[in-house]
Amino acid sequence: MCGIIGIITKKDRNLIPDITASLSDLEYRGYDSAGLALLDGGVIRVYKCVGAPSQNLNSEKIKKSLGLSETNAKVAIGHNRWATHGEPSVINAHPHLDCRGAVAVVHNGTILNYAKLKEELIGKGHVFSSETDTEVIPHLIEDYLGEGLSLGESVAKTCRGLEGSFGLAAVSAASPELLVVAKNGSPLVIGVLKESLIVASSQNAIIRYTDRIISLHDGEMAELSAGGELVYSISKFGDASSAKVSRQEEKITGISMEDVSKGEFETFMLKEIFDEPASVRAALLGRSDKNKGDAVLGGLIDYSDYLAHISHIYFVACGTAHNAACVGKEIIESLSDIIVESAIASEFRYRKHNFPKLDTAVFAVSQSGETADTLESVKEAKRKGYKTFGIVNVVGSAIAEETDAGIYTRAGLEIGVASTKAFTSQLAAIYLLALKLARERGMSVQKGKEYITELERLPELLKKTLELSTEPTKEIARLYGGIKTINFLGRGIHVPVSAEAALKFKELTYIEVGSYPLGELKHGPMAVIDKESLSVVLSPKDELFDISKNSIEQIKSKGGKIFLITSEDARGDSGINKADSVLYLPVLKEKLFYPMLEVIPLQLFAYHFAKNLGRNIDKPRNLAKSVTVE
Ligand code: AGP
Ligand code: GLU
Repeated sequence: MCGIIGIITKKDRNLIPDITASLSDLEYRGYDSAGLALLDGGVIRVYKCVGAPSQNLNSEKIKKSLGLSETNAKVAIGHNRWATHGEPSVINAHPHLDCRGAVAVVHNGTILNYAKLKEELIGKGHVFSSETDTEVIPHLIEDYLGEGLSLGESVAKTCRGLEGSFGLAAVSAASPELLVVAKNGSPLVIGVLKESLIVASSQNAIIRYTDRIISLHDGEMAELSAGGELVYSISKFGDASSAKVSRQEEKITGISMEDVSKGEFETFMLKEIFDEPASVRAALLGRSDKNKGDAVLGGLIDYSDYLAHISHIYFVACGTAHNAACVGKEIIESLSDIIVESAIASEFRYRKHNFPKLDTAVFAVSQSGETADTLESVKEAKRKGYKTFGIVNVVGSAIAEETDAGIYTRAGLEIGVASTKAFTSQLAAIYLLALKLARERGMSVQKGKEYITELERLPELLKKTLELSTEPTKEIARLYGGIKTINFLGRGIHVPVSAEAALKFKELTYIEVGSYPLGELKHGPMAVIDKESLSVVLSPKDELFDISKNSIEQIKSKGGKIFLITSEDARGDSGINKADSVLYLPVLKEKLFYPMLEVIPLQLFAYHFAKNLGRNIDKPRNLAKSVTVE
């Protein structure tokens, strides 16, 4: 959640434009306030604001407010805050300072033992100005500096006493050519340039400068210094001897500068919806062998024998990733004899687990690879002796690292807070996984070949679905703009897609809507159906189509409006002519793939509905792109 940036350069220059641009790049991770600090010779200068950094951190305004004609510096840090302790306000915004204003810290995460530390520090005479947990950090550093430790040693000792999660960057007025960073549970990477080093909580904020990065692991810190040569050294903060850790430079892969711009689209979300044919193509690329009718998943190769014998799967995930996992359950259970449970990670991490540990694989599904509940579920599963696997988008993210092996979903950078292309890429990865598991359990080679042939058509069919959904979804969103009640309904594999449609709709429009298995309507939700209601029914022509028609009749008998999403081969079927609006999807031979297509009009419907309400599409209120706190 939220973001950190830090820059250290060989030569003094105006770092404010880079800091503010990077904070804007990180906005998608969430923000409620922002701030920066410049290390101007021996003085720390701080500027903070409430609201979006892209709108409130203006170079000229900052210069003026700091009362400076020049804002050149060698070191600067910046922060987008997503409050966990204390309301969003200028005082609570980061950077936070020690008593003398001689240490500044930006921090992502939460310090669990802050109350105890704060009490001790106040007891020693420290004066606090904010309500944040973060503020204990500069005060602890202040104490250790006072004992004669260096900034690096002080940060290390501080980190040893912190419980919780943190990615942090600290500067001290006494060390004007030093930037110290540490990581434990919150992401942090270092970008390497000729003239400067840049630290950020996401590669996305680094790609505008360089594709050369150094990753930090949990428990590590780095001292970046511009005194003479530009150098960095990594160590473990738990290691009091500060032994150096050597780390290879890596290249950023899977994202480009193009990903961080909207291009011709009005929002990132719309761009990402239109990316879906390409992102699904990327997810499938080179991952199947037609002759063998099998999937080729390099990331799982060391566990092939293991996966060939499992009897159970736990999927763990949150939000959209959970909905993709629920589709996954339907697919895997229908193609194999494996028993699958798709668990919500925030529940899974705290409950009892009865699946046999030697025969169960735990698959964590996550776009960001950072979601705290999902990450903790993986850790808990490992503690209990389960093998864990990731279906993750962000390469090298915490969940990707923590799991034993996995499949990257290759969706590319997703900036819109409401997940779209991540969902279809997760489905693509799960379709491949399901094929692999099924082929190891009796699916014939012929069936495998047909499955792959159909999989390969998906990118093209997604494109077609986008074309045929664009205008109708605009029109339907306009038509039902004033509607009071909306329910998303389906049966079987379409149930989790209706849950995903409802989630998208809520996130974007701020309107509470329902999602149910169609057959559940008559057990309660039917009470809300009247002529002021809209039922969005997902029912392509599959084995449950005829039963769904019956439910359409029932909704209609109560006067409810119906928007039906079905397939082209249902056109003309007498049972569906009661629907008020119908959208026909391309016909699929493999009916299990319909979720991939049907989610497209649902994403667009939510999009246009929210747009008509004037909502902030890319950054819906109260939400952040990755939820790294509980
Ligand atoms: C999706 O639109 C949401 N913003 C949210 O539900 C998200 O899918 C969830 O927080 C999980 O995130 P992850 O995939 O990064 O783990
Ligand atoms: N817990 C800190 C605060 O509330 C940091 C939150 C964040 O990660 O932005 O200020």
